[in-house]
Amino acid sequence: MRVLAIETSCDETAAAVVEDGSRVLSSVVSSQTDIHSTFGGVVPEIASRAHLELLGPVVNEAMARAATGPEGLCAVAATVGPGLVGSLLVGVSAAKAYAWSWGLPFIGVNHMEGHLHAAFLEDPSLCLPTVVLLVSGGHTMLICMQAPGAPFDGDRAGSAVATSQVEYRLLGQTLDDAAGEAFDKVARFLGLGYPGGPAIEREARDGRPDAIAFPRGLATEGYDFSFSGLKTSVIRYMQANPGAPLPDVAASFQEAVVDVLVAKTKKAAAEVTAKAICIGGGVAANAALRERVGQLCDEYGYTAFIPSRAMCTDNAAMIGAAACYRLRLDGPSPLDTAVDPNLRLQFV
Ligand code: KG4
Ligand code: ZN
Repeated sequence: MRVLAIETSCDETAAAVVEDGSRVLSSVVSSQTDIHSTFGGVVPEIASRAHLELLGPVVNEAMARAATGPEGLCAVAATVGPGLVGSLLVGVSAAKAYAWSWGLPFIGVNHMEGHLHAAFLEDPSLCLPTVVLLVSGGHTMLICMQAPGAPFDGDRAGSAVATSQVEYRLLGQTLDDAAGEAFDKVARFLGLGYPGGPAIEREARDGRPDAIAFPRGLATEGYDFSFSGLKTSVIRYMQANPGAPLPDVAASFQEAVVDVLVAKTKKAAAEVTAKAICIGGGVAANAALRERVGQLCDEYGYTAFIPSRAMCTDNAAMIGAAACYRLRLDGPSPLDTAVDPNLRLQFV
């Protein structure tokens, strides 16, 4: 089962050829970061125009690197949401056109399900239940991936289960800003540039994570997250201490985000008797978070699924993996499938 997948939900124009949901034959990502950095964030209209120019060459490159022609494919997939409506439309319209003209089925994929499947691409032996911390620019969610029908306590845990048999249970999510959004907003306020996550991470390298005691929002309550208070607290701190060393501010802010993410992941993993912990989404590229999740897994004996940085940030290979899963489960999507900027994951 060989799928051409297209991802254009935000500011990466990406295409990949994925075989059987697990082998990446090619993955091409063209980032628009340079175009948007002048504006301090993604400009939706500019993003969709750039996708329009970049997508054809990116798809050609992905097909060439995979040494595949249309006759070697069994379907064409694209992210149908969530994301920027204009950007989504470019990828989805192109994917439908390729599918129709090559006589292949089309598969509409949920971007967040793509992030969930990214780990399978690098290690197909995922064992259930797995607690997944999904942290991107638009979302922050704690999800339990479990065998279908498994009770919440993970009774049917244990054996490695085929990826065609997973259910998602939402344990908690952010009540305000997503973790990546907090990184981006704080970086912008500190004048560190865009995208904020890597900028804060760079600045934090020379700072002390314990220099400033920023608040840990909702740290002890349930599985939901809140980051807007932390962002406000950084702003107030800088207003009161205009000369504060930026590396210390960046490191202390990053520590506050990572502390909360790791504490809730730890609590969730214990409660669902998880076998493994997996992280995904752009913020999962953060070295401090990766290290702390790795330590948590070592300490408590969970298998760690920490995808490579390239597989954490937006790419089309993860969309190809999720597409194979959806094709097996639900079959192809109709050609009149609409894009949905607010598409949600289906939880049990
Ligand atoms: O998953 P992604 O590439 O796109 C969305 O679906 O949102 O995530 C992008 C987000 C941005 O907010 C970016 O600042 C953040 O991920 N990010 C990071 C790092 N790299 C990207 N946050 C913290 N540390 C990083 N190294
Ligand atoms: Zn994403």
